[in-house]
Amino acid sequence: MILSAVVVVDANNGIGKENKLLVHFPADLKRFKKITSGHTVIMGRKTYESMGKALPNRRNIVISRQPGYALTDSETTHSLEAGIGLAEGEEEVFIIGGAEIFRQALPVLNKVYLTHIDKTFDADTFFPELDKNQWHEEDREDHQPDEKTPFSYSFLTYKKG
Ligand SMILES: NC(=O)c1ccc[n+]([C@@H]2O[C@H](COP(=O)([O-])OP(=O)(O)OC[C@H]3O[C@@H](n4cnc5c(N)ncnc54)[C@H](OP(=O)(O)O)[C@@H]3O)[C@@H](O)[C@H]2O)c1
Repeated sequence: MILSAVVVVDANNGIGKENKLLVHFPADLKRFKKITSGHTVIMGRKTYESMGKALPNRRNIVISRQPGYALTDSETTHSLEAGIGLAEGEEEVFIIGGAEIFRQALPVLNKVYLTHIDKTFDADTFFPELDKNQWHEEDREDHQPDEKTPFSYSFLTYKKG
């Protein structure tokens, strides 16, 4: 199994504020959908609540420490390891946040699909720094601002090793 994270970070590695995303922009939503559709996504309880429902066309696994935590539209487990275990045998599985889950998954991740926004937002949650001795950039697409997106951004793929 390839274990991958998909994340959008601002210029300071910020990813969220008050349990919301910092920004939504169409090119990134499209990329997220293309990468994760048809696959399993694993997320923390707060990220699920921030979205309010399961992502369509994907197997959704939500992690919570609360005993008895259950959802009608997603599978739930009580540890990250158990969540990854549920997806055993799948080719690529996606960790989609938030900060707490990214931090715990980092040592076992193989790949990170990262959207880097060239702007700083007011954030209260952050993606961990990728150690450049362990991670290399496999792919990069730089984009200039346009009428839908008032900042420049890059789509990056990092691989461990
Ligand atoms: N920019 C991005 O790409 C991106 C992506 C996703 C999310 N976000 C943002 O990130 C923020 C949310 O991140 P967050 O760090 O606050 O929360 P989170 O990681 O989404 O969820 C944290 C919760 O997950 C559960 N959990 C964490 N580790 C666990 C473990 N080992 N075993 C069992 N349960 C565990 C706990 O739920 P219980 O409290 O129920 O026990 C914990 O409170 C929001 O602002 C969201 O918008 C950004």
